[in-house]
Amino acid sequence: MCGIVGFVGREEAAPILLDGLARLEYRGYDSAGIAVYSPEDGLRVEKAKGRLQVLFDKIHGGADVKGHLGLGHTRWATHGEPSDVNAHPQLSESGRFAVIHNGIIENYVEIKEFLQEHGVTFVSETDTEVVAHLLDYYYKDDMMDAVVKVLHRINGAYAFGIVCADCPDRLIAARKDSPLIIGYGDGFNFLASDVTAVIKYTREVSYLDDGDIAVLTADSVEIYDSLLQRVEKAHHQVDWEVSAAEKGGYEHFMAKEIMEQPEAFRKTISPRIQDGNVVLDDLKIDRAALEAMDKIYIIACGSSYHVGVVAKYTLEKMLRKPVEVALASEFRYCDPIVSNQTLCIVISQSGETIDTLAAMREAKRLGARLLSIVNVVGSTIARESDDVLYTWAGPEIAVATTKAYSTQLAVIYLIALYFAKQLNTISMEEYDAIVAELQVLPDKMQQVLEQKENIQYYASRYFNHESIFFIGRNIDYAVGMEGSLKLKEISYIHSEAYAAGELKHGTISLIEPGALVVALAGHAALFEKLMSNVVEVKSRGADVLGVTVASLGKAMEKTVDAAVMVPDTLPMLLPSLEVLPMQLFAYYIALMRGCDIDKPRNLAKSVTVE
Ligand code: M6R
Repeated sequence: MCGIVGFVGREEAAPILLDGLARLEYRGYDSAGIAVYSPEDGLRVEKAKGRLQVLFDKIHGGADVKGHLGLGHTRWATHGEPSDVNAHPQLSESGRFAVIHNGIIENYVEIKEFLQEHGVTFVSETDTEVVAHLLDYYYKDDMMDAVVKVLHRINGAYAFGIVCADCPDRLIAARKDSPLIIGYGDGFNFLASDVTAVIKYTREVSYLDDGDIAVLTADSVEIYDSLLQRVEKAHHQVDWEVSAAEKGGYEHFMAKEIMEQPEAFRKTISPRIQDGNVVLDDLKIDRAALEAMDKIYIIACGSSYHVGVVAKYTLEKMLRKPVEVALASEFRYCDPIVSNQTLCIVISQSGETIDTLAAMREAKRLGARLLSIVNVVGSTIARESDDVLYTWAGPEIAVATTKAYSTQLAVIYLIALYFAKQLNTISMEEYDAIVAELQVLPDKMQQVLEQKENIQYYASRYFNHESIFFIGRNIDYAVGMEGSLKLKEISYIHSEAYAAGELKHGTISLIEPGALVVALAGHAALFEKLMSNVVEVKSRGADVLGVTVASLGKAMEKTVDAAVMVPDTLPMLLPSLEVLPMQLFAYYIALMRGCDIDKPRNLAKSVTVE
């Protein structure tokens, strides 16, 4: 969850570290800190509770802190409240070691007691501080030896950046279950928790594996595996544009990313549709394996899970194979029925979500084949999968996902078409119709986004509600789940999504005059049924904001208080249009409530702790 960056080179490190942290701040933003070494000042640590800007102002953009090597950290608190003292870097008692850490040291209590018995005084509540002191404890003039001993002693997940004042030409990076990359430059090198921190300076990166330890100087990077054997890592070129990780004139990343969706969707599908056929060259799974497949298990968290819910409806209908969708955090504890004929589709924007990673490892252990849908190239989930289909959304910075969700849906449609054709469960007529519609969908998405003023107006009518319900049936319900999550995570309004028919089994007791219900009713075959549920809530005094397709708009307007219409499309592709007003609605409501849209409270973009 935290963002870490390290720089060693010939330029002043502090401004570069702050710049890297600014690009990583979406990973955690309750406090930040840097440690920079210079011969004059030794190892100097500066930290501040709050957003990075507080630290930035405190050290005048880094101008106050001299030195060519250092570490930076932006924190999402796990152990200990957000505060100056709990911020990273954590220093060892001697002041010799500074450590930044993403992850959790599970046996920190036992190590802390051990060190206290040896006279060490702790100043913070963090688990990370034990690592700094343990480095001191093991240090006998050999930094690497101390690091290795510490790594053997600790349990848990970590990405570390370590600096030692006695070896001021080098940084050490170590990883287990938390992402860490190396960025290679000419006369400088970086460590970072993701590539966005370094792409302004270099596009040449490699990805550390679990157990790896890297030693970085200005002119060299040496990487060792868990057996301390020297390993060579493949170098990759990152093709993300620096501007893609900047706001480009928008007030918020979320607004920019919402508007980027038609293009991101197009980029994700276009290279994979050739002469009217879905071509998934990246997939190694063959027809025989598909035919033998006993079921599909979809594993994901949050919005990616909501894509999974859409996928269940879509894939079951098109493939006539059972599809189960599981919350990754539950999967390992539900004794899942998985065989070596099960295909497990893993969905993740970041490719680093620890619950998803743990669940997919369990699925693999049980024999499943893993196909992942991932946005971040080279991420752990991508690397551990048998097959990967990347979403070409580019960097997504806002904590609330929008374009990743849309591009994940795009990949699900491609998979559905590709598998259905292989399995002969689709007629050519239907296949051609879906492929054709898929190609015009970005234009239809654009048409929906052009209604943003309209949706802003509805947001202004409803932004004071304290509880909002989303109802729908089938894929409309799946989109309602996403609409509800979007709203609650950025506007802090309580919200629930309900399968419309389920309301009367309890939740309707919460409907009273003035309650707001967002009714999704784009699925023509279910429209009448859904409208009956709308009438039920209206009779109990609810205000209803309806969402449907243009051809059903007139019918809906007779009953609801306000309606948003999206262009008509094939039912299967509806979620891609219906979700857009949901995202805009949440965005404008959060804006009107004065919320910190890109960095909602308590959240972080990449959830790397369980
Ligand atoms: O990176 P992932 O797709 O694995 O992340 C999963 C969830 O943490 C993520 O979708 C989260 O729910 C978003 N903040 C929702 O906007």
